[in-house]
Amino acid sequence: MDKKGLDSRLRLIQDADLNGKVVLVRFDHNVVKDGEIKDPYRIDRTFGTLYNIVERGGRPILMTHVGRPKDKKTGDITCRPGESVEPIVEYLAMKLHTRFHIPKFDIDPKRGITGIDTSINLAIRSLRERKVGGIYLPNTRWFAGEEAEGKVRENFVLQLAGLADIFINDAFGSWQPHASTYDIARLLPSYAGFLMQQEIVNLHSVMNPERPFVAVVAGAKYDTKIKPLYAIYDKVDKLILGGVLYNTFLCAKYAVKIAGVSESDIEAAKDLVEKDRKNQKIVELPYIVESDTLEGRVEGKYRTISARDFKQGNKYNYILDIDPKAFEDKFVYESISNAKTIFVNAVMGFTPHFSAGSAALDSTIDHNRTAIKMYGGGDTLQEFKNLCPGLYLSVLDNTQYYFFTGGGTVLTAIEQGSPYGLMPVKALMENK
Ligand code: 3PG
Ligand code: MG
Repeated sequence: MDKKGLDSRLRLIQDADLNGKVVLVRFDHNVVKDGEIKDPYRIDRTFGTLYNIVERGGRPILMTHVGRPKDKKTGDITCRPGESVEPIVEYLAMKLHTRFHIPKFDIDPKRGITGIDTSINLAIRSLRERKVGGIYLPNTRWFAGEEAEGKVRENFVLQLAGLADIFINDAFGSWQPHASTYDIARLLPSYAGFLMQQEIVNLHSVMNPERPFVAVVAGAKYDTKIKPLYAIYDKVDKLILGGVLYNTFLCAKYAVKIAGVSESDIEAAKDLVEKDRKNQKIVELPYIVESDTLEGRVEGKYRTISARDFKQGNKYNYILDIDPKAFEDKFVYESISNAKTIFVNAVMGFTPHFSAGSAALDSTIDHNRTAIKMYGGGDTLQEFKNLCPGLYLSVLDNTQYYFFTGGGTVLTAIEQGSPYGLMPVKALMENK
């Protein structure tokens, strides 16, 4: 492990010989919804790797997944135009003045693209002859082999490997071990791209934080976040909860009822309450916003209440946000101000109507001028950008801020205790 936290077994793009090579590079450009780019941040973060490949004489073939085209129940793959890589290619053309060629393959209405046929050879010749700036393969999840098992998958990986001399993984956000993130690294000489390296270095500082370390975690569902939440709990000095996670915690701790919080989640949260009785790490945000409806912010139907008035057996309607004045509470404010490392994986309120809590959180954190501040997750970032656009622009290149390109990846790595347990990263380390 070097000083920055990079494991020496990880092979890096800097060490690859790219000259004259066709380089297959996996990005996480999963930013398209209904045919539109929601936020190009994940694309922008990969320009360095892309430039480096070309600058050193490599010829790039790009790939990413977009959305979740595979039906979980039936296994059918639907190739919807709204989940095509086309908007990404248009964005790249606009930013880089380079045209990427998207090869077309036959689509089976249920199985997606069943194979890469030889028509690609012509495109690869144009790529080598620099007649196109690069090739961008269709959405990797449109290929039958991407998430399949057995022969279908093996064939797809072989076809992918046949396209290129070298594989580079720069898709930090795509931690699931699929053909294009995992299997391919076993067949081609494989290296970590620059974004992947930078994310791992920053993950290392979340896992080895300068203290005091404060984490803010929220989420819409209790059950899916519970494991990473416990892992985070053990690492932090102070923990702030938001969203359904916080509501659930409050129900379990004060034996109150809050609309929309399930009994089984409350039962599960009792462990956390017990744990916290001993360790006292959870910083409670006292002022919260109760709403009688989920329809939005309806005048007369929402109000601020104080968790300090909670009494056993009390019943409340939906709790949909944190009142900004919660962050003025002395203990809350000092907890955030004294931190040396702050990690945020959270949207505080029920968006889009209840977002004052998140805005107040972001600006309170910004008041701390000495901490390293790390934000994980697309939604967290999107919210930050929407709520505090000026702040977002001003801190984008501030070295005290870091915005991860994948929230799920960060939580998975924290849960596993290391970025090197992530399957696609493992594959890069085991690669010969
Ligand atoms: C994301 O947007 O969270 C990543 O691209 C991973 O997508 P997935 O959760 O569909 O694998
Ligand atoms: Mg996600």
